[in-house]
Amino acid sequence: ISSAMHLFITVLTPTQLITLLWVCDAVKFGQLCSGNPSNSRRTSDGWGQGHYGAGRGGRLHEGLDIKCSDGSTVFAPFDVTLNGKLTVYTDPSKAAINEGINLSGEGLCFKLFYVRPDRTSGRVRKGERIGTMLPMQRVYPGITSHVHVQMCDKSDPTRYF
Ligand SMILES: *[C@@H]1O[C@H](CO)[C@@H](O)[C@H](O)[C@H]1NC(C)=O
Repeated sequence: ISSAMHLFITVLTPTQLITLLWVCDAVKFGQLCSGNPSNSRRTSDGWGQGHYGAGRGGRLHEGLDIKCSDGSTVFAPFDVTLNGKLTVYTDPSKAAINEGINLSGEGLCFKLFYVRPDRTSGRVRKGERIGTMLPMQRVYPGITSHVHVQMCDKSDPTRYF
């Protein structure tokens, strides 16, 4: 162990160490959708629930749903790189909302579903627009319209909100 490393270890009090660990774990999504500054979540409606792991007719919901009215502007939640467009469904009856975007930033790879991206490559700064919320009410009348946030590794995104 080098003397510099030894110094680094001995000068950290337990409180400072906890602070350091907290800072390392502090990635949080900024505002995703116009009209929803606190990233409030879809809870429960006639079509199901919005939390990660909710039932979806024999399978589990692999993302977290953030409320977003149809036609709203969708923002970059932090500085992001755009990694291409996605399709969500194979079912043609859902064509009206069958778009999304693959993103990375803050060390996270994630996808946003039901968003028509303005662009599909390059970088976008936190708070700048990345696209438009698609007309979800046309496909799921009465649902709480939402952006679906899904981590590329299918892990639970809730801790980032
Ligand atoms: C999303 O982008 C990442 C990083 O470029 C890539 O590894 C991943 O395969 C992409 N996923 C999809 C579904 O396009």
